Amino acid sequence: MKKIDGKQIAKDLVSELTQEVEALSGDKPCIAFIRVGDDPASVSYVKSKNETAAKIGITPLLFALNESISQEELFAKVDELNADPKVNGILVQSPLPKHLDEQATFNRIDPLKDVDGFHETNAGRLVQEDARGFVSCTPAGIVEICKREGIKMEGKHVVVLGRSLIVGKTFALLAMQKGEYANATVTVCHSRTKNLAEITRQADILVAAIGRPEMVTKDMVSEGTVVIDVGINRVEDPSRKRGYRIVGDVKFDEVSPLASHITPVPGGVGPMTVALLMSNTVKAYKLQQA
Ligand code: GUN
Repeated sequence: MKKIDGKQIAKDLVSELTQEVEALSGDKPCIAFIRVGDDPASVSYVKSKNETAAKIGITPLLFALNESISQEELFAKVDELNADPKVNGILVQSPLPKHLDEQATFNRIDPLKDVDGFHETNAGRLVQEDARGFVSCTPAGIVEICKREGIKMEGKHVVVLGRSLIVGKTFALLAMQKGEYANATVTVCHSRTKNLAEITRQADILVAAIGRPEMVTKDMVSEGTVVIDVGINRVEDPSRKRGYRIVGDVKFDEVSPLASHITPVPGGVGPMTVALLMSNTVKAYKLQQA
């Protein structure tokens, strides 16, 4: 079993991007973060993205908006950043409060600045396998892990647990497209799937992105499977000072002895999401210079 060190792979990517940004003449790339409300997980994710951007030499701008902001006010902020030539990338942290329309907000972002890849144009470009588009950072981070660990998907059975736009659906599209680190046979499972364990046991590569703490148990995994755990779940833990701990969607201790490779939580896919966001921001900068 090989425990994949996502933190180290992300560090390598961040250091490559730092050199690339250092070599740019003129204005440096700039990313704007919009966070609405104070959801603790969102505060922590945006903070981490902000810090990584600054470290690379990408200028971060943070807009922390009030929980009660209206849809029109949020659109106005997005419009302002769309029109600002200094801003290369815009990220609206998900989830938004319930009174706001998340997809409409993503669709308001200029597709050339949509470093999250959630705009309908970029989703469409992914379906059409058009490399000009931006791909959602977590699925792109998983592909990057596979590349750097030499895990080829060609002809393999990839089973994806979860069908969100942010991860499951997008990763399924990436895995099935044509290409060296793609060409997989893909099955997507979700909350309504019957005989789940029967299907997951057939996986050569199992990607768990369903947001249910430690749901994947050893009876669901065959020996020699590559297990990618995308879950970041907070579970109560009174023994910890902060009152909770973070667990993945996979029961690591019992699944890891079966796996050929496995990503831990934390320190697996999570850091890759942030690194790929920075890579998308540099890509946006270059496309906008061209
Ligand atoms: N919330 C959880 N993951 C993500 C992500 O990749 N992008 C944004 N904007 N919000 C998220």
